[in-house]
Amino acid sequence: MRGLIGKRVLVSGGSSGIGIAAARRFLEEGCRVVVSGLDPAEVDDAVAELRPLGEVTGFAVDVSHEPDATALVEAAVRELGGIDVLANNAGIAWREPFLEITAEHFDRMLAVNLRGMFLVGQAVGRHMAERGGGVIVNMSSTNGIAGEEDYAHYNASKGGVLLLGKTMAVELGRYGIRVNTLCPGYIRTPLNASIAGAMANADFESTYVADRIPLARAGRPEDVAAAYAFLASDDAAFIHGTELVVDGGQLAVM
Ligand SMILES: NC(=O)c1ccc[n+]([C@@H]2O[C@H](COP(=O)([O-])OP(=O)(O)OC[C@H]3O[C@@H](n4cnc5c(N)ncnc54)[C@H](O)[C@@H]3O)[C@@H](O)[C@H]2O)c1
Repeated sequence: MRGLIGKRVLVSGGSSGIGIAAARRFLEEGCRVVVSGLDPAEVDDAVAELRPLGEVTGFAVDVSHEPDATALVEAAVRELGGIDVLANNAGIAWREPFLEITAEHFDRMLAVNLRGMFLVGQAVGRHMAERGGGVIVNMSSTNGIAGEEDYAHYNASKGGVLLLGKTMAVELGRYGIRVNTLCPGYIRTPLNASIAGAMANADFESTYVADRIPLARAGRPEDVAAAYAFLASDDAAFIHGTELVVDGGQLAVM
């Protein structure tokens, strides 16, 4: 991808799944990377795994907690000397029928997936506005576009991320900050493994793929990492305020 060599990249939720694949891809493209995650041991393991590929550091934070989000951005700026690219990726999900969702569960989903994205995005946006630009890629989902059953809280959080990103694009373009949103479909990650495990359904993935995905396979974290790299690169220089769906055709099915 054009223009990525030497870029300073913060990948929130970069200790697992899509985020660690994105960190790997940015390192392979010649970037310097900071990853974050909730679990300190997972962050340490991710950094150890990524280190052979290039310069990478990790921080354990809870992005829904404002002081943590601010501290993460300050630490990344200190570590890298600035942030050129934010992959605003941290998120959680679990299945729960709408009629059974408690207010506490709803709040937690929104706190991590929407508030956390806002807090990290705003802190990075302020930094980029001061230093003359950058690229932010927020993580939504196909669930931010269509209402998958048993995910009302998750769908609401990801729908919010879509319009958060559009508004960021409207307001931040004048500072030279490009903002776009990724909407992956079903990607094989620890998150989906835990959802299938909670359902005690070993066939969950094969049934889901057969029923819903025209390309007839689960997405790979690397499929989404490639989209992160593209949107962060100069090849996407005039792409702004929009979303890129990475779902093997799932949303095309009627
Ligand atoms: N896997 C999919 O099918 C899929 C599809 C669409 C969108 N997404 C989104 O992609 C992102 C990554 O998902 P994944 O499947 O790789 O999940 P994952 O569970 O493998 O990784 C999630 C990452 O987010 C971090 N995280 C979770 N809660 C956090 C918190 N409170 N504070 C800081 N970090 C926190 C974790 O530490 C981890 O690094 C999420 O935003 C998810 O909603 C995933």
